[in-house]
Amino acid sequence: MRSLLIAIGLACLVVPAEAEDKCVALTLDDGPSAEYTGRVLDVLSGAGVKATFFVVGQRVVENRALVRRMREEGHEIGNHSFSHPWLSHLSLAAAARQITQTDEAVVAITGVRPRVVRAPYGDLPNDLRVVGGGRPFIGWSNDTSDYAHPSQSTIVRRATGGGRTLIVLMHDIHRWSLAAMPGVVAGLKARGYRFVTVTELLEGACGFTASPNLVFGPSYIPRRFREVSAVRRTD
Ligand code: NI
Repeated sequence: MRSLLIAIGLACLVVPAEAEDKCVALTLDDGPSAEYTGRVLDVLSGAGVKATFFVVGQRVVENRALVRRMREEGHEIGNHSFSHPWLSHLSLAAAARQITQTDEAVVAITGVRPRVVRAPYGDLPNDLRVVGGGRPFIGWSNDTSDYAHPSQSTIVRRATGGGRTLIVLMHDIHRWSLAAMPGVVAGLKARGYRFVTVTELLEGACGFTASPNLVFGPSYIPRRFREVSAVRRTD
């Protein structure tokens, strides 16, 4: 009986520690949106959680107060290009300009240069170091495909399943994404996930080690270019 009690006691000690090891970086792309981003910030603030907003530069300059509020409320601001093009379709100089223009727009408001980049459509540029200025490009583990207007329960299910470390992809520019947000946050909390920003995740807040499926370092070569160079080598 005594050993059973000890076992139960140990289980009680162990379970919260494991729960703390589960981390989620909730990422919100394509804003800021005058219609929805403020209400998304209200939901996050009410729930006491931090997210990472991958902002589009041309929307930043139209919604300065929202960008300032993101910063003031402790969220991370990542760079999602200036006009949301397919970066691999542009020259390296034009793709780099997409990123630096957004850096400049964010710095003008917050004084802080974004530390992480996400390529529109996940379309990595031809040279990550040149285009991102040495910063990592961030992918995702959980694609909610919320842009396609799935049901709220589908968004919540897609956002909340998976392993110990999640990078959840959502958007702060749709009415139905906003509507699903409280359920997503509650569902992740109920499963024991701790909310961190992308940079906190990369800095090891959760014992995270960069996975090639989630985070692409500056020297990463997109698959299509690896294949091209492999063909050239065998010629
Ligand atoms: Ni996007």
